[in-house]
Amino acid sequence: MAVIPVDVAGHPYEVRVEAGLLAELVPHCRGLLRKREVAIVTDANVHAAWGEVVDKALRDHGHEPHWRILPAGEQTKAWDTLAATVDWLLDMGVERGDHILALGGGVIGDLTGFAAAILKRGCKFIQLPTTLLAQVDSSVGGKTAINTRAGKNLVGAFHQPALVLADLAALDTLPQRQLLAGYAEVLKYGLIGDADFFAWCEENGAALLSGNSRAREYAVAHSVSHKARIIAEDEHETTGTRALLNLGHTFGHAMEAETGYSDRLLHGEAVAIGMVLAARYSARLGFMPRVSAERLTRHFEMVGIQGSLAALALDCDGKALAAHMLHDKKMTAGTLPFILMKGIGQAYLDKGIALEDVAQFLDEQMVG
Ligand SMILES: NC(=O)c1ccc[n+]([C@@H]2O[C@H](COP(=O)([O-])OP(=O)(O)OC[C@H]3O[C@@H](n4cnc5c(N)ncnc54)[C@H](O)[C@@H]3O)[C@@H](O)[C@H]2O)c1
Ligand SMILES: [Zn+2]
Repeated sequence: MAVIPVDVAGHPYEVRVEAGLLAELVPHCRGLLRKREVAIVTDANVHAAWGEVVDKALRDHGHEPHWRILPAGEQTKAWDTLAATVDWLLDMGVERGDHILALGGGVIGDLTGFAAAILKRGCKFIQLPTTLLAQVDSSVGGKTAINTRAGKNLVGAFHQPALVLADLAALDTLPQRQLLAGYAEVLKYGLIGDADFFAWCEENGAALLSGNSRAREYAVAHSVSHKARIIAEDEHETTGTRALLNLGHTFGHAMEAETGYSDRLLHGEAVAIGMVLAARYSARLGFMPRVSAERLTRHFEMVGIQGSLAALALDCDGKALAAHMLHDKKMTAGTLPFILMKGIGQAYLDKGIALEDVAQFLDEQMVG
């Protein structure tokens, strides 16, 4: 088992990575579950795949699980679900020192984490991430949020979990499309600051995606360690270090907004195309060698990830796509910081990018 410490001031915690953690949930929580009753939030798909295992794991150790099974999908990260979940937790008599369990992907983790953040001004929660994306990204770092009419993740809080148990066995039931989307976030760590890890992904990415457990454990643990280092340095995204994790995301969010945050384009799929765009734009500005940008495209092609904006066939022009970026949370005083690259493993924050130029670049990319 890999154990990665996340060293945030005041509330350090561990991320444990191994196959079989859900079945052995209680011993791995090491005394955090103090009461007989345990509140557990999940979605319908995860409950169908893992509900029985987790229910048994809790009951075998004398706990009584109380399940809240939400509809699967992004629309669950909303005010009404949040309110109903918080009321449900209050009705159960959850206290500040209790640990709520969040069993699922980023949707369940973000919603439950936010509910925990505001319940009695902050109670504890444990992340049990079941998607690759949640294991390598959303369950670690304490960003919690819901979506509102004005956009995605615009209301939320920084609230760190008390523990993260990433059960690699959960990935066995994950649909391949979701696995591929999560893989884009794995590769992101290589692109940001770890050329060796990028090369490892080129060698082992296909094995990871086809179920090789050693490759999975290495990739998840390595990704979490990378994120943990960044969080320890810049928990609240104030110095710019944490912002590097948004590589590909400014482009990606624009595509997600344009496609209405629908099943047409998953978050990780948008990030994959977004990273290709960030690489090509960096190359266009002369910062990154063109061959490095194309190395990324080649790898995506090899593992079966669609990395081309043209292939997405959006029904809009570059200007309309760039307009979505104006609503980005990171926009300050009229400028939008972009994460660009000087090479593979050399991402940096660029505050000098003109949106009109980005729009023109997007027009070119849309025709292939
Ligand atoms: N907090 C953060 O730092 C952060 C970072 C990245 C993304 N996010 C958020 O995460 C969300 C996306 O997360 P996601 O990609 O995990 O999506 P998700 O939670 O919607 O899960 C994807 C799908 O897979 C299903 N599923 C989950 N685990 C499964 C399993 N083991 N077996 C079978 N089916 C399973 C779910 O029911 C869902 O249909 C977005 O809302 C995004 O904003 C947050
Ligand atoms: Zn992401």
